[in-house]
Amino acid sequence: MILHLPKILDPDQLARCRALLAEAEWADGRITAGTQAATAKNNRQLPEDSPQAQTLRGIVLEALSRNAQFFTAALPKRIYPPLFNRYGDTANSFGNHVDNAIRTHPASAQHVRTDLSFTLFLNDPEEYDGGELVIEDGFGGRPVKLPAGDLILYPSYSVHRVEPVTRGARLACFSWLESMVREPQRRELLYELDMAILSLRQEQGETDTAVRLTSCYHNLLRMCAMV
Ligand code: NI
Repeated sequence: MILHLPKILDPDQLARCRALLAEAEWADGRITAGTQAATAKNNRQLPEDSPQAQTLRGIVLEALSRNAQFFTAALPKRIYPPLFNRYGDTANSFGNHVDNAIRTHPASAQHVRTDLSFTLFLNDPEEYDGGELVIEDGFGGRPVKLPAGDLILYPSYSVHRVEPVTRGARLACFSWLESMVREPQRRELLYELDMAILSLRQEQGETDTAVRLTSCYHNLLRMCAMV
C-alpha cells in the first residue's frame, strides 16, 4: 500500500523547518546509505548530530504523533529518528535502490526493522523541476511529487529512486519505521477496516453496528500486534 497523507505539517511548522534548513550545513548523503544504495546516491543530507537536525526531528516526530491517519496506517512501534535531505545542483538524484532491512541508530544503538518508509516534502513542487520519488510497483513505477507538508508512506521493500532535480532544490524529510503489525496484508486490512468504520460513524453516528465493528477492529489488532 502506498499512501498519501496530506498536511502533516501546518504552514507555521513548515516555515520553522525551512528557516532551520536554510541555516544548516549539509553533508554528503552517502553518510547513511548501505553499500548498494551508496553507489546510486548523490544528494546532500544533514548530519544526524547537527543542532538544526535535532530541532527538525522534534517538529516532525511531534507532528506525526498527533496524526491519527499516520498512526492507523503505519501502526508504528519504532520510528528511526527522521533525516533531512536536499537534491539540487550537482548532488541531485538517487538511482534505483532498496532501503536496508535494519537501521541501527548510532546514538542509541537501537535497531529498527524497516517495514515502511516515508518522505515528507518540505518545499512545493513549483520550486523545482524533476525530483519525483518513483516507487516501482510492477507497472513501471509511480512518480510522486507532493505539496510541502504532505507525506508519502510506502513499503520499505519497494525498489525506488529520486529522479534528477534539474532546476531549484528539493527539500525533504525521510525515515523508516517498524510497525506493530509486520505483515503488509494484515496492516492494510486493519487500515481499510478502521477507515470504513470511521466513514460509517461519520454517516450514521455511534450505532450498535459501529460499536460492534470497532470491537472487531480492536480484537483483530490485539491478534496481530507485536508490541
Ligand atoms: Ni530509499
